[in-house]
Amino acid sequence: MEKIWIQVLGKMTYGIYVLTTFYEDEINAMIASWVSQVSYDPPLVMTAIHPDRYSHRLLEQSRCFALHVPAKNHMDYLSRFKGPDPKAKLDGIQWVKGKTGCPILKQCVAYVECRVRNSYNPGNHTLFIGEVVDARICSAEKPLSTLDYKGQYLRKD
Ligand SMILES: Cc1cc2nc3c(=O)[nH]c(=O)nc-3n(C[C@H](O)[C@H](O)[C@H](O)COP(=O)(O)O)c2cc1C
Repeated sequence: MEKIWIQVLGKMTYGIYVLTTFYEDEINAMIASWVSQVSYDPPLVMTAIHPDRYSHRLLEQSRCFALHVPAKNHMDYLSRFKGPDPKAKLDGIQWVKGKTGCPILKQCVAYVECRVRNSYNPGNHTLFIGEVVDARICSAEKPLSTLDYKGQYLRKD
């Protein structure tokens, strides 16, 4: 990509989410910001995930994901989801199994849980389009976005 294109794409604002998924007894969580609602009837949410992610394989197998909205002041908490070790990511934090079996994290502003209806490969990320099966607001704190987060997801991280 041309440098200026990357710079311009870096001016676009996104939410920052913690995506959780699972397959059988494997669970994982990762930070995702290429996320959007794409329909309200039915309610559909899309997430774009690179095939190299451990979560990608779990998503393909379970066809389920949950997206958690972190609070602005949860930046430190977020860093635990960056590492490559899936066990370290969820160890010692509170979560429960959601309707689909996805881990639902206790600490978040809100979450949405989805079952994948379609997936597409238009480029180097897979678009997983999920139908909302559950959603809750868990706190009144302000959501985190790329405006408050240092470092944007633009290409390789
Ligand atoms: C702010 C931020 C946003 C990110 N957004 C995405 C995204 O939308 N899609 C993606 O595939 N990776 C994204 N990543 C990279 C993954 O979070 C990272 O590669 C993670 O370690 C993958 O975890 P896993 O391999 O255990 O599934 C993002 C990283 C950061 C820091």
